[in-house]
Amino acid sequence: MSYQIRVMGDPVLRQEAKSIDNIDGRIIQMVDDMVPAMYQAEGIGLAAPQVGIQKRLFVYDIGEGPQTLVNPEIVDSDGEWAFEEGCLSVPGLSFEIIRPKEVHLIGRDLNGNEVSIEADELLARLFQHELDHLDGVLLLDHLDRDERKAALRRWREIQSSPGARPASSDDLALP
Ligand code: NI
Repeated sequence: MSYQIRVMGDPVLRQEAKSIDNIDGRIIQMVDDMVPAMYQAEGIGLAAPQVGIQKRLFVYDIGEGPQTLVNPEIVDSDGEWAFEEGCLSVPGLSFEIIRPKEVHLIGRDLNGNEVSIEADELLARLFQHELDHLDGVLLLDHLDRDERKAALRRWREIQSSPGARPASSDDLALP
């Protein structure tokens, strides 16, 4: 099946996803379907809640082929980095957001093996962004009150303009 990417306003994006106890055939199939959905949307990451599935898993590809992380957790972070961040679930908007520059992420791969990754800059940002999705957090939650109000106004304009889903090709479509 092909997945439709959910956009802001869909309640599934606001729920906390559940840990995966067993990496079974359904999970493998889900990943097989999520990866093409990510590529089709020209994203570099996609979290399960973005396709309506409340599981703690995301896929990503920053140019080294598709990867999957199951039950990911950030156990350490360091530094600060400002980066213009977009989201496939908030198409048309992007915001400069400051987050830690480096993170240490642990989790499992699709074979159930433990993984431990020290990530910097773009990959660290992607991990933090995807982790947010698993906790029901969206980009706008990182803005201050005024920025958020302006962003919501802009979002409503985008949503109400006929046929419009403005191309966000200039923005880095972080999942
Ligand atoms: Ni996103």
